[in-house]
Amino acid sequence: MSHDHSHAGHDHSDDAGFPEPDLVSRPRRNRRSASLRALVRETVLTPADFILPLFVMEGSRKREAIRSMPGVFRLTRDLAVAEARRAHKLGIPAVALFPVIPGKLKDKHASESKNRDGLLQRTIRDLKGAVPDLTVITDVAMDPYSSDGHDGLVGKDGAILNDATLPILAEMALAQAAAGADIVAPSDMMDGRVGYLRSALDGFGHADVGILAYTAKYASAFYGPFREALDSAPKKGDKKTYQMDPANRREALREAQLDADEGADIVMVKPAGAYLDIISDLAAQSPVPVAAYQVSGEYAMIHAAGKLGWLDADKALMEATLAIKRAGADMILSYGAVKLVEALD
Ligand code: PBG
Repeated sequence: MSHDHSHAGHDHSDDAGFPEPDLVSRPRRNRRSASLRALVRETVLTPADFILPLFVMEGSRKREAIRSMPGVFRLTRDLAVAEARRAHKLGIPAVALFPVIPGKLKDKHASESKNRDGLLQRTIRDLKGAVPDLTVITDVAMDPYSSDGHDGLVGKDGAILNDATLPILAEMALAQAAAGADIVAPSDMMDGRVGYLRSALDGFGHADVGILAYTAKYASAFYGPFREALDSAPKKGDKKTYQMDPANRREALREAQLDADEGADIVMVKPAGAYLDIISDLAAQSPVPVAAYQVSGEYAMIHAAGKLGWLDADKALMEATLAIKRAGADMILSYGAVKLVEALD
């Protein structure tokens, strides 16, 4: 490609009134060829940037499509292990597990979450047995196990009980750690849970298990498809009394400060795409690495537009993911992780 500033083909003497541009700075010079663009590129995605979320269900050799997330499935344990193995071979360092708990096992106290032989715990053991080097991250929150569909314990008046939830989360994290989880990830947004989990883990011989805190988790409409996948939507009310107000930016720094002080090893921003300013703030100030969760609705919305033929979903997802890294994320949870990594050059 050649520059057209020479006005080739035009007769200069006729261009009265249009002064010849005399630009000193021509940023386009650095964009002239693929090799030049590669040379000046500031942000590059690599397989090691990704964490693959997996939805796991009981049974064997079955996968169930999730209507609002084309290409994402609920997998039985054997298939989840196969998918994790594939991701690991591609250089993806970690998976984040989300169990599909049948309604009959859900109750007010999320009792199934502390079952040492539950679906999630067996899946962790299978994964660590099959791919020991893969980092296994597990979610700590009541919602997939709760008959109320809330992340915390629901009191008589419908309020979410902060301090009464903490021991339930601790039991849950201990069951996950005992099964071999490398990192537990509290996504519940109760106050004080990071410190509480840290001392529970330390007290029961799991000082090496890390904590990835969902630090700035917003009360977002972008979680819809996830709640459909796990049938975990709140039965009553919403999550606004514990998840953050999407209007707030400064508050994320307060949460990050607390989580780091309480012993979080990684802090997370969620959702990612609409919260790049928050990722950028935390990346600038956090003493620990920053993760970002490109959530179900971000994935769904791009694929929906792709299905309509309104944009190229694969390219749009890649661009959205690159932007998350550019904003400062050290790692990205993405449902498209495998496909994205396969498309990296
Ligand atoms: C549960 C949890 C949620 C997500 C991750 N952990 C849903 C929620 O808070 O309602 C959402 C992830 C996604 O939408 O992809 N505490």
